[in-house]
Amino acid sequence: MERAFHEKKLGPVVLKNAFIKTATYEGMYDHGIPNQKLIEYHTSIARGGVALTTVSYGAVSADGRTFKHQMFINDKSLEKLSILANEVHEAGGKVSIQLTHCGYFSKNTDVKRPLAPSRVFNEYGFMSGLVFSRAMTQYDMDKISDDFANAAFKLKKIGFDAVEIHMGHGYLLSQFLSPWTNKRKDSYGGSIENRARFPLEVLQNIRDKTGNEFPIFVKLNLSDGFKKGFSLEDSKYVSKALKIHGCSAIVLSGGFTSKTPFYLMRGDVPLSGMIKNGDGFAEKITMALFGPIIIKKYKFKANFFLDQAKEIREVVDIPLVYLGGVDSKQGIKEILDAGFDFIALGRPLIHDPNFLLKLKSGEIKKSGCTRCNECIVEMDRDGIRCVI
Ligand SMILES: Cc1cc2nc3c(=O)[nH]c(=O)nc-3n(C[C@H](O)[C@H](O)[C@H](O)COP(=O)(O)O)c2cc1C
Repeated sequence: MERAFHEKKLGPVVLKNAFIKTATYEGMYDHGIPNQKLIEYHTSIARGGVALTTVSYGAVSADGRTFKHQMFINDKSLEKLSILANEVHEAGGKVSIQLTHCGYFSKNTDVKRPLAPSRVFNEYGFMSGLVFSRAMTQYDMDKISDDFANAAFKLKKIGFDAVEIHMGHGYLLSQFLSPWTNKRKDSYGGSIENRARFPLEVLQNIRDKTGNEFPIFVKLNLSDGFKKGFSLEDSKYVSKALKIHGCSAIVLSGGFTSKTPFYLMRGDVPLSGMIKNGDGFAEKITMALFGPIIIKKYKFKANFFLDQAKEIREVVDIPLVYLGGVDSKQGIKEILDAGFDFIALGRPLIHDPNFLLKLKSGEIKKSGCTRCNECIVEMDRDGIRCVI
């Protein structure tokens, strides 16, 4: 465990240890602008001893948001994010931000037809009237690629130490990678080489715009978690290609938000809270009737992605971030022994921002998080927090 507390370098950035707070949607905005709570939240995470904290879900454009009230990268949010970066630095930490585009996972009624690699049924937002996506044109792709690159460039300029490109969990770049949603017949669909083409172009565009040294993380699925989705073999190919196109480190995760949302988290499905939180009567009723059938539950196990992640470790020579079910010293030791460079934490730090300090000092042996997953319900009510 002591090994994990040694300094690490990623490009020019010195991280005080191997621990990263992964992106967990905070819901701390006022009309889409990050608020003081978001600043305090990440400052408290930095004080709790992780080397790098990741602000979640920075949509690269207004139509890249799933919901209207979410943050996107514009002058007003950059002003607040710049304060956030300063305060995290003063608290002794480094800061990154997850850059994303939701693709067709949209409930944002400002958008008439959400974008996706192909025309698909929007199982996520059809109740908001956004029933089908529109297949992206070359113009759409060029525009979104530039939105990613410009966002990363601006964040670097205001003091962010790194960015994370979201290529997982079923969001736009993951929709390109997945054969489930990418049905294109051109050079962007079909084989994994073709499905990976647009996500890799986006990465290369960001690298070109931010320079050789700037740390760029990519969050990538090990698999979508269902047959006919992105597979572990696909993930091996993409991991190797990411290195060639300028990725600094890969954060390994899994799952597809509209089909296998709990594959990436494991534990309880907080169905009654999800029904209560549903958008409107129709969604609440549908969730109550079909939720138990369509939302699959996956049993929690410590280090639940480790076996799959080890297969990626065997085939690539690039810094890898292990994520998923880290909750004890023993678990951390297993990850380091398997050759991972960094360790990311989600729920243990939602439960207690001082988890690491307490683990290190011996005050606790394990995280107190029960994986009730009620934090998922709370995140869009009044900001993310543990309900225990
Ligand atoms: C409340 C909550 C919100 C999340 N929001 C995001 C998000 O915005 N982006 C993302 O990539 N993953 C998100 N995740 C998934 C986490 O990044 C992580 O993959 C998952 O919690 C497993 O890690 P853990 O076992 O350390 O919690 C979220 C998870 C939780 C519990």
